[in-house]
Amino acid sequence: MTTRLIKNIGELTTNDPTLGAGTAGRLHDAAMVIDEDRVLWVGPNAQAPAADESIDAQDCAVIPGFVDSHTHLVFAGERSDEFEARMSGTPYDGGGIARTVASTRVASSDELRRSTAQRLRELRAGGVTTVEIKSGYALNVDGESRLIDIASEFSDEVTFLGAHVVPEEYVKDREGYVSLVRGSMLQACAPHSKWADVFCDHGAFDVDESRAILTSARAAGLQLRVHGNQLGRTGGVALAVEMDAASVDHCTFLSDDDVDQLSASNTVATLLPGADFSTRADYSSARRLRDRGAVVALATDCNPGTSYVTSMAFVLAIAVRDMRMDFDDALWSATRGGATALRRGDVGHLGPGARADVVILDAPRAAHLAYRPGAPLVRQVILAR
Ligand code: NIG
Ligand code: FE
Repeated sequence: MTTRLIKNIGELTTNDPTLGAGTAGRLHDAAMVIDEDRVLWVGPNAQAPAADESIDAQDCAVIPGFVDSHTHLVFAGERSDEFEARMSGTPYDGGGIARTVASTRVASSDELRRSTAQRLRELRAGGVTTVEIKSGYALNVDGESRLIDIASEFSDEVTFLGAHVVPEEYVKDREGYVSLVRGSMLQACAPHSKWADVFCDHGAFDVDESRAILTSARAAGLQLRVHGNQLGRTGGVALAVEMDAASVDHCTFLSDDDVDQLSASNTVATLLPGADFSTRADYSSARRLRDRGAVVALATDCNPGTSYVTSMAFVLAIAVRDMRMDFDDALWSATRGGATALRRGDVGHLGPGARADVVILDAPRAAHLAYRPGAPLVRQVILAR
């Protein structure tokens, strides 16, 4: 096992309050020692133990790798024309999903692998070290199972989203599609999936359909997540809490009752600033959630329709500027918050024993990620084996 010392860290965010100040567990003039898998030691630079190799952080900031807990990375085609139309006033209604389904169904597996790998490279270059990937752009048994297989080549956090929308061939038979998702599609996809997700919203699935799908998914051994309250107060949040889903994502429209329910639950509210940006929606109120004690995660939602975003720094900048999060809260939400949304204790922090997923920035403070939007501030990404 080769050990590596990262020395001369100007500002170290550990997200471990036992190691440093605040929930960020912040240290200055710090150092850390890692091996190929794990963090071994964190402390003052002056007390750093010897290691086989060393990396000089040159007084720059170091943070845990970002945990992007919500992406739709496997798809073909793009929909920039819809983005342009939205910027001139056309609302988003989920209708464009069918276009991506059409292009994804006819794409070769190699083409899907190539474009997924490229998007993952972009995420990594921006400091993402853990990524969740959903299916949802095939919406038939063989197609969904192909997307799940491709996703699992890139991540262990794979989510079955057969319940994205009802595909064109089933519009006159919604019940038939819900049965397909709960039956043979789930059976084909469950072996390589960890999670199941449902788009519970206007134009997608209602609460009863969503509950039925999630119930079958749980019986098949999957853990649950929900796309909810993106387009209205549609009951997705309450359903996610009722089902003890790990996370309910979007939360653009929240009632006081939704916020109270989230605060009293184990369900993380995952906010997707890129989607609100790209659909010209009002930004979800992160501060209201935080003030009432709900756990908040931030993710890219990388997808061709509502958020073709691979930059967590961009997500942080919006969260801070427009969702009014304090920078440290936003950074926590994009790291440890994402880990919580994936029910993972080994990532999103840099305490001893955590996975050695470490990002060295080209900036003296992590806050530069939001302060200098658009600048390439990630100098080095260290990924645990
Ligand atoms: O998370 N809202 C549902 N699903 C995706 C968008 C899908 C699309 O428009 O292609 C989302 O925003
Ligand atoms: Fe999404």
